[in-house]
Amino acid sequence: MAGTKTLTMIKPGAVNNRHIGAIFNMIEEAGFRIIAVKSVLMSHLEAEEFYQEHKERPFFPELVDFMSSGPVVAAILKKDNAVEDFRSLIGNTDPLQAKEGTIRKLFAESKSHNAIHGSDSDESADRECHFFFSTKEYLEKH
Ligand code: RTP
Ligand code: MG
Repeated sequence: MAGTKTLTMIKPGAVNNRHIGAIFNMIEEAGFRIIAVKSVLMSHLEAEEFYQEHKERPFFPELVDFMSSGPVVAAILKKDNAVEDFRSLIGNTDPLQAKEGTIRKLFAESKSHNAIHGSDSDESADRECHFFFSTKEYLEKH
């Protein structure tokens, strides 16, 4: 059965461009419950750790520089089928490929500065929730 939890980050460009409110509004309107939220300025090392799966990819240095360039807003979202439904809401990694009405279509500046992150599996969601939040900060049964 698909999990009910996913981890998102509003990325530094979208935070700097004052899109936090509009993006959270779209997330809630789409039926997700925001059960934990915080603003975090990741160090270079923390950004490397978060995106460790991509460490051999050519875009990794740019990705890590960008993700540690300013605060992100991290949140845990709850909904049935959370991972897949959230990836649909945010749209393709490249905003030029993303469908109309998706968060990345509306707010991304480019493929590398693409406004928002969404976990890619239930296993990633678990790991990423623990990366940002302690168990005191959210309830699994929430
Ligand atoms: P995310 O993990 O941030 O939610 O993005 P995603 O699943 O849609 O894409 P992923 O393949 O996991 O890539 C992570 C981030 O790396 C940057 N990227 N740049 N220039 C490129 O070809 C390229 N490919 C990926 C993007 O910032 C992407 O969100
Ligand atoms: Mg990804």
